[in-house]
Amino acid sequence: MTNKSPKILAIESSCDDTSAAVIVSGAVKSNIIANQEVHAMYGGVVPELASRKHQESIVPVVDQALKLAEIAKNELDAIAFTQGPGLLGSLLVGCSFAKSMAMSLDIPLIGINHMEAHILAHFIEDPKPSFPFLCLTVSGGHTQLVLVHSPIDMQVIGTTRDDAAGEAFDKIGKYLGLPYPAGPIIDRLAKEGRHKFTFSKPKLDGLEYSFSGLKTSVLYFLKKAIKEEPDFIKNNLNDLCCSVQSTIIAILIDKLIIAANQHGINQIAIAGGVSANSYLRLQLNKIAKDLNWKVFIPAMQYCTDNAGMIAINAHYKYLNQSFVDQSVTPQPRMSINPCTNI
Ligand code: KG4
Ligand code: ZN
Repeated sequence: MTNKSPKILAIESSCDDTSAAVIVSGAVKSNIIANQEVHAMYGGVVPELASRKHQESIVPVVDQALKLAEIAKNELDAIAFTQGPGLLGSLLVGCSFAKSMAMSLDIPLIGINHMEAHILAHFIEDPKPSFPFLCLTVSGGHTQLVLVHSPIDMQVIGTTRDDAAGEAFDKIGKYLGLPYPAGPIIDRLAKEGRHKFTFSKPKLDGLEYSFSGLKTSVLYFLKKAIKEEPDFIKNNLNDLCCSVQSTIIAILIDKLIIAANQHGINQIAIAGGVSANSYLRLQLNKIAKDLNWKVFIPAMQYCTDNAGMIAINAHYKYLNQSFVDQSVTPQPRMSINPCTNI
């Protein structure tokens, strides 16, 4: 029988953060995150190292989440986990753990789409958008414009044909000699810089994004500049960060405005790791005033990967009796609503 105020343990392990959260009657009671610093020196996530770290962290992280929420294992009504998209080895750790725990407690299992979870993170705290709303979902692996009709009905109306916005921050950061993930560092350094260098934006019709051209143009620009001035990056780091960041955010916002106009929507949300970017937040709030938008920006702790967002999705799925069985497997390329996805 369905419990109307379910207690659910949620697990996120899609990339390089091991996280567990407990949600009770739709209220997130704990959200523990173990970051993996091991990748910083490699300039990106090393999949093999990520899965090993998840193995090490998952038991203590789950224990802490249950303890903080003051919930015993045998009080749980369901276990949720990120089914995809993500790195296969990382997803396998969360999926196997969730399956074993659900089996031993004889409770249902809930599989969650990581990108839908980023969007529904807006329903953890107030103010919450009402349906339908438009969400710019920007992470390390995805850049999507999503029309959100309900918690279980989302439609991707725009996506990137190559790199994701977060990937552009991280890869360009690598050219600048910054450790992974470079996004938050570029954000911080850009505050001390000026938009001094101009990089061209892609000329793509419709709602399609592209960031690989920008990445290449920054690389060639730096190669040329370093030939003339070997310490060019060191001497211009803040201005370079500011120029790159302004360009990426302008690319994101241009299409967001087109999408909002096309669909006649003025409730606009952002989600995913890049939604933590202070310049994106600032620009969005400015535009909101000019265009009469109602803007929704998640709390910092719910922007980057966390199990709180998996938990809120699991809450809706539990109420909808949307469970998976023990034969479930991770889906590294799981897309939002495959039937409506472009
Ligand atoms: O959503 P997320 O935590 O993981 C994925 O699902 O990929 O997003 C991680 C991405 C990384 O590329 C990281 O550099 C970027 O989000 N990011 C930022 C900021 N904080 C995280 N990018 C720009 N500015 C930030 N403040
Ligand atoms: Zn994510």
